[in-house]
Amino acid sequence: MTPVLEATGISVVHRTRSGPLHAVTDVSLSLEARRTLALVGESGSGKSSIAKAVLHLPPPTSGTVRLDGTDLAALSARELRGLRPRMQMVFQDPLSSLNPRRRVRDIVAEPLDAHPGTPPKGGRDARVDELLDAVGLPGDLFADRRPTQLSGGQAQRVAIARALAAEPRVLIADEAVSALDVSAQATVLNLLRGLTETLGLAGLFISHDLGVVRAVSDDVAVLYLGRLCEEGPTEDVLAAPTHPYTAALLAAVPEPGRALAADTRLVAADPPSPLAPPSGCGFRTRCPLATARCAAEQPATVRIAPDRRVACHHPLTGA
Ligand SMILES: Nc1ncnc2c1ncn2[C@@H]1O[C@H](COP(=O)(O)OP(=O)(O)O)[C@@H](O)[C@H]1O
Ligand SMILES: [Mg+2]
Repeated sequence: MTPVLEATGISVVHRTRSGPLHAVTDVSLSLEARRTLALVGESGSGKSSIAKAVLHLPPPTSGTVRLDGTDLAALSARELRGLRPRMQMVFQDPLSSLNPRRRVRDIVAEPLDAHPGTPPKGGRDARVDELLDAVGLPGDLFADRRPTQLSGGQAQRVAIARALAAEPRVLIADEAVSALDVSAQATVLNLLRGLTETLGLAGLFISHDLGVVRAVSDDVAVLYLGRLCEEGPTEDVLAAPTHPYTAALLAAVPEPGRALAADTRLVAADPPSPLAPPSGCGFRTRCPLATARCAAEQPATVRIAPDRRVACHHPLTGA
């Protein structure tokens, strides 16, 4: 099956006053219809840099992004503008992404109004009601409200309805539930998962919290200092993490009755700066299992099962 979205070997280098900052290095991701991939990593690990590179906002420093097989770098600016609505993004702070002076109906209709040539079947307002319905907000109660009259969870659902109005192939949620309370988080997570399935979207769900990933993703990719350290089906990775960093993240998620095989304590509290990364494996300065080899050599990414990959000199086994 051709992936809906395929990023191959993408790197992102930001120019800073202190020199080039390698935010993302050689990351490959593949998104399929009706599936959600969770991208997990601490703050500063490069998650948002990947999301922007995937959308070509701006393009990655190197590597390629294909949408339905089309290399975005091969498109003219106009063609790219035409394709962009197929990739929609939902952000952390819903209220700041919604114009406070507009009514919910007009916010949700923004993508429809941007392309007045193709009126939706049944008309604009009927389509808005349908979209609000899809995110669990009855139009008769919500369409005439303004963003300040919404809770955080409701505002995020309006942002999702607006994203859906563009009929995307890919839905990227960047820390979309981080600012919500626990019950609103659950509502929005279930909604995102249901929508990727019913609408056949490919989902990229970005979070610093491995705990929320279980609820929403089919597959997980763990990011550390701009590189992927472990990838695989969410159930398998969470049941038996092989990278010591995944194990450490998992150990920080409270769950009774779970036993992990290795010492999962991080050696240092904070990740190193991407401006001055350690030699060899980026994780070695916090890794309880690090050896001299980890300082000398960047670990290659190895396939340990048909759908699982890990980049570590000392992967955990039999967790
Ligand atoms: N526009 C930018 N200019 C310079 N540095 C940036 C820029 N955007 C992000 N960074 C740096 O790149 C690294 C990754 O950031 P980001 O992708 O936002 O991570 P995350 O979303 O995982 O928190 C961080 O060290 C951050 O400071
Ligand atoms: Mg971010």
